[in-house]
Amino acid sequence: MFEILEKRYLNENVILMKILATNVAKNVMPGQFIILRVNENGERIPLTVADYNREKGTITIIFQIAGATTKLLSKLEENEKIKDIAGPLGKPSKLEGLKKVLIVGGGVGCAICYPIAKHLFKNNATVHIITGFKNKDLVILDEEFKAISNKFILTTDDGSKGEKGLVTKPLENLLNSNEKYDEIITIGPLIMMKFVCEITKKYNVKTTVSMNPIMIDGTGMCGGCRVNVGGKIRFACVDGPDFNGHLIDFDETIKRNKIYENFEKKAYEKTCNLYKGS
Ligand code: FES
Repeated sequence: MFEILEKRYLNENVILMKILATNVAKNVMPGQFIILRVNENGERIPLTVADYNREKGTITIIFQIAGATTKLLSKLEENEKIKDIAGPLGKPSKLEGLKKVLIVGGGVGCAICYPIAKHLFKNNATVHIITGFKNKDLVILDEEFKAISNKFILTTDDGSKGEKGLVTKPLENLLNSNEKYDEIITIGPLIMMKFVCEITKKYNVKTTVSMNPIMIDGTGMCGGCRVNVGGKIRFACVDGPDFNGHLIDFDETIKRNKIYENFEKKAYEKTCNLYKGS
């Protein structure tokens, strides 16, 4: 059993939980995830470790209430316990030797960016961060990102906080200026990562994406995280979650994950046009 030491809403639908999980905290690295089960009869779901404290034995998870299990998890309060936590799982992000990095996060994907940015900043890399949200009510971790970056740009689609527009606009501005990055790391909605990668490919900057957002059971068995990487089928939960963003077939992945169907063709095309026009 794993005790919840802290619970806080980052926005109406996104919750941060700090959990006592000594063994995970001892071994976890940025980019890795856990699989948890809320109670005896619950399903197992993967969640990225958003932060950790090895001395205190704590890990932090940040999740959006999006289905039955996250809803169940959201009902737990401080001092209550989660039945099972397994991990750390997945391959850690490869961050050694990076001196200057641009991180582009979108929505709740920013929670996955956070430990990567923190690790790089702590290890004296120059860290630039762009985060994007639909509006001010959905913004998370802006103060935290400011504290671990040399440059931080917040965007909202409607301009209600930070710069108005999508993350691709400041991204292109930075790449057009004299900024040179060893690597760009982007994590967020598939459609955002697709357009970020299209831009960075044009500028020939190595780009890593985390396919964590498409994972379902995290065990390599459900097939939900299958992704075409340079013509080869890979599984985000086993082979990743990080991949070379320039090799990912995003269109196929988006279709496979039914986003395309749920979304309605028109809404999908409208969003594509938004990115193309930004
Ligand atoms: Fe199910 Fe990877 S999440 S196979």
